Amino acid sequence: MRVTIFGASGLLGKALVREWREDEVVGLRSRDADVRDTDRVRETIEASRPDWVVLSAAYTDVDGCESNRDLAFSVNRDGAVNVADATRRIGAKLLFLSSDYVFDGKKTTPYEIDDTRNPQSIYGHSKSEAEMRLLEILSSCCILRTSWLFGTGGKCFPDTILKLAAGRPVLDVVNDQRGCPTYVVDLARAIIQLCRKGASGIVHVTNRGDCTWFEFARDIVRCAGLTTEVRPVSSKQMERPAPRPAYSVLSPASLQQHDITLPTWQDALPRYLIERGA
Ligand SMILES: NC(=O)c1ccc[n+]([C@@H]2O[C@H](COP(=O)([O-])OP(=O)(O)OC[C@H]3O[C@@H](n4cnc5c(N)ncnc54)[C@H](OP(=O)(O)O)[C@@H]3O)[C@@H](O)[C@H]2O)c1
Repeated sequence: MRVTIFGASGLLGKALVREWREDEVVGLRSRDADVRDTDRVRETIEASRPDWVVLSAAYTDVDGCESNRDLAFSVNRDGAVNVADATRRIGAKLLFLSSDYVFDGKKTTPYEIDDTRNPQSIYGHSKSEAEMRLLEILSSCCILRTSWLFGTGGKCFPDTILKLAAGRPVLDVVNDQRGCPTYVVDLARAIIQLCRKGASGIVHVTNRGDCTWFEFARDIVRCAGLTTEVRPVSSKQMERPAPRPAYSVLSPASLQQHDITLPTWQDALPRYLIERGA
């Protein structure tokens, strides 16, 4: 199988390139092909002639998207459309990375793939509109929604917590947003399996289990053997530019239909800490 990955220099992209061993993989950074550049995207895809295109590239600064609306839509929606158009032209398959932030967080039970999109942030809107456009352009594409990524290839929540905990006796962390932390190594392995199985349609992929950011931070500190006290606070006490869903747990049912099960986030966290320390 030949695979072209947009966003290969990102947190997930680096894990994908590392984990994807048995196939012929081309990994692209933004300077190789900016997804906003229609011609460049087309030339790059036509030159690499992949069976699968994995679109992990995105403008992922959720707060930054609020003040850079045009950038958010041009990269996350219009860039995705460029990649989908070029993918369709050569008859390849497309797997697009989307987000739990397409939901409003008002549910209290896990989100299923056919639950109504109702994004609350500009980032969520840009991903939601991309999903809808992609399904029009390439009805067989695979839209993979995931959440709360962590890994060693870039900025992520556990890394921030560990750096802060190293220099502070107390950390305040929000306890009123619940979701599913996801280790990019486990996500990358699931993506590889989904491509091998020829998956299409919407699929939710996260590590199993859910928690609040506070609960996640408390386990990160404990697992790392640190003594920093982690205190629960509300989102109101830590206001940020972009609203986040209070509850964005994604149901694993769609992934189970592909006979794939991910480990729990509690299983993934120590593996991440080992990788980070290595
Ligand atoms: N992080 C999360 O918690 C999370 C949660 C849910 C869904 N997702 C989605 O999962 C995917 C991977 O996220 P991530 O955390 O790995 O992202 P990331 O670390 O922020 O990496 C973003 C990647 O996108 C590339 N990129 C940015 N703008 C580009 C452009 N205009 N043209 C081409 N490439 C561009 C970057 O390339 P350069 O570095 O070379 O500029 C980088 O490789 C994204 O689609 C994201 O929306 C992430």
